Amino acid sequence: MRRSGTERADGNLDGRELIRYATLAASSHNTQPWKFRIRKDRITILPDFSRRCPVVDPDDSHLFKSLGCAAENMIHAAAAQGFLAEIQFNPAENSVDVLLSRDATACATELYRAITKRQCVKTAYDGRPVSETELEKLQKAGKGKSVRTILLTSTADKNTVTDFVTRGNIAQLTDRAFRKELINWIRFNPAEAMRKGDGLAGRTSGQPALPTWLAKMIIGLVLTHKGQARTDATNIKSSAGIAVFVASRDDKPGWVELGRAYERFALQATALSICTAFINQPIEVRELRSQFDSWLKLEAESALLMVRFGHGSATPFSLRRPIDDVIVED
Ligand SMILES: Cc1cc2nc3c(=O)[nH]c(=O)nc-3n(C[C@H](O)[C@H](O)[C@H](O)COP(=O)(O)O)c2cc1C
Repeated sequence: MRRSGTERADGNLDGRELIRYATLAASSHNTQPWKFRIRKDRITILPDFSRRCPVVDPDDSHLFKSLGCAAENMIHAAAAQGFLAEIQFNPAENSVDVLLSRDATACATELYRAITKRQCVKTAYDGRPVSETELEKLQKAGKGKSVRTILLTSTADKNTVTDFVTRGNIAQLTDRAFRKELINWIRFNPAEAMRKGDGLAGRTSGQPALPTWLAKMIIGLVLTHKGQARTDATNIKSSAGIAVFVASRDDKPGWVELGRAYERFALQATALSICTAFINQPIEVRELRSQFDSWLKLEAESALLMVRFGHGSATPFSLRRPIDDVIVED
């Protein structure tokens, strides 16, 4: 197999292995909007703007959050190889530099071991609560430089979030451009998912496999705001709580920080056998976001991601492209 960068055989860093772990991170619509460049003392995570989603993500904020998710995985994978990783945003190329230096204290942690197990579990959970100790651990994991995590566990709060999500579903699923973009990223059967190695595989959310031509014919009838609202209401009710990631910065470095905080939260949840799944509609629909921020009583901050969490069962993993497809040479 072709190798680039330093390798572990001589005790150095295995850059390809770090990239493999980074690519297991969450990304919006599973677009995997990243490329990686390996240099001696760093790995640079570059945005792949050919994978942007201009309708749901017109300012590329989800894209940069996804780069933050990949960077966070890389930090824990580097520690497992005995390296300390420092993250720097480079505005000149809109990239995230992961600066690597040997560190005698760096070692494999429970968050590292969670990387290969983390997934968004988009099905209903079993309604059991999460303990106070676990909530504290989750909240701590979801804290970053400009980011904090608000945990909502009361029935009243979950009901209000459900209302916002329903309004978001109406706005998004009655918008032709939103539907077209979403459908473009859905992989309707395992063969299509395997061929492309990206996108939203139906089986990860419990949908039956269908031939692509048939799925495209009936998706218009199946994908409705009413149906989605019903599913989301059931899923939120079945969850132990909701985590809202709020930030004082709404710019590229801030989005990267936010993605890191979400990924850390998700890895910590995975380590505790707690599932997570996104419910971002009130954040993605601009008109709703300011109302949502007001409901959360945010002043100098804004809600930038939201997940539900609880106890559930693992679902099939979503796929990734081969790492040779995402490594760029100098
Ligand atoms: C910034 C960001 C936004 C996302 N938004 C949504 C969303 O609105 N709804 C959803 O179901 N999943 C959302 N996801 C989750 C992705 O669909 C998921 O990470 C991707 O399909 C890969 O699957 P995995 O996380 O199970 O590996 C989002 C992920 C990221 C990083």
